[in-house]
Amino acid sequence: MNSNVSAATIEASPAVKGEEVVRLVDVHRHFGTTAALDGISLTVHKGEILGIIGRSGAGKSTLIRCLNGLERPDSGLIEIEARGIVGLDEKELQPLRRRVGMIFQHFNLLASKTVEENVALPLKIAGAGKSERLQRAHELLELVGLADKARAYPSSLSGGQKQRVGIARALAARPALLLSDEATSALDPETTRSILALLKDINRKLGLTIILITHEMEVVRSIADRVAVIDAGRIAEEGQVWSVFADPKAAITKSLLSGSRPQLPEHIAARLSPTSGDEAILSIDMAGPVAQGAVFADLSTALPQSFRLVHGGIDHIQNQPVARFFIAVPTRDPALRDKVLQFLKARSARVEVLGYDTDHV
Ligand SMILES: Nc1ncnc2c1ncn2[C@@H]1O[C@H](COP(=O)(O)OP(=O)(O)OP(=O)(O)O)[C@@H](O)[C@H]1O
Ligand SMILES: [Mg+2]
Repeated sequence: MNSNVSAATIEASPAVKGEEVVRLVDVHRHFGTTAALDGISLTVHKGEILGIIGRSGAGKSTLIRCLNGLERPDSGLIEIEARGIVGLDEKELQPLRRRVGMIFQHFNLLASKTVEENVALPLKIAGAGKSERLQRAHELLELVGLADKARAYPSSLSGGQKQRVGIARALAARPALLLSDEATSALDPETTRSILALLKDINRKLGLTIILITHEMEVVRSIADRVAVIDAGRIAEEGQVWSVFADPKAAITKSLLSGSRPQLPEHIAARLSPTSGDEAILSIDMAGPVAQGAVFADLSTALPQSFRLVHGGIDHIQNQPVARFFIAVPTRDPALRDKVLQFLKARSARVEVLGYDTDHV
């Protein structure tokens, strides 16, 4: 049990819980013998940003399509703003669709319409008059920083600008929920950051609830409050983003996180012996105040010459320090190694002996 992610630490940064915008209970969807969704239960509260992450084929898009009524589950309950949507016909789904905005990887803008016409389209479909549509389109283009592109056509815009138009269009009918299916996957890292910053800004300004589907942990890390890891149609793990980064439980989460947190350098990992060597190589995970780094200065003072730092660093996720370090501890004195372990565990660090090294210089 990792006590660094204790109830006390979590209470120090409470998630603000508004009313439920989305509720799924035991949702199943099969395609032939493939269980795309195999019993998904999830709740998303007003104003929250939930990241849903999983490998290709995990069921992410099927889940999103069930939320906007494009896909029907075989069984289970889906509620948007406390209204059940399973079993509604196309006509009954119309009001729901206005409550749910959607942005896509490939933007899905109409090439023959100007930017402002694209943004105003959902209002046109909803029957709003022309002046209302244009006024709203301009407000939204202002919000996404594209007021000067109202009369431009999508073909003259960059990918990031197109996605801004996509976001403005998704917000046109004042939805309660914004769904994003890999909305930054076609963008370069800098543009991705600017789009994610825009989504966070909109989330704060409008209190908009957002569900973001992604296969990139960096996307989850930068803007989500909570993350659900989906694997083979099931939720493998769920929690506040910083706590999942600090202490991933499921193998799939660890694997998805491998590019986002320090890993033992490969050339060292490759030469570790499972049983013996001059040094034990330890991984140390910490979160919260203890992760600020002073722990190593204290360890040095308490037990001089008991370790050397090999690799690692401190990250800040949702304003929480999350640290992962690798240290080497000499094995010539087994009592010393045990004291190091005790010292770290007493400070709520999660410590694992990864193996033993002989060839270090
Ligand atoms: N219309 C369909 N007909 C048959 N099989 C489908 C259909 N839609 C999805 N599937 C299958 O369901 C599973 C989940 O697909 P889904 O598109 O939800 O995955 P995903 O997590 O969005 O993957 P990706 O990251 O590649 O977009 C896959 O095995 C897929 O082949
Ligand atoms: Mg998909």
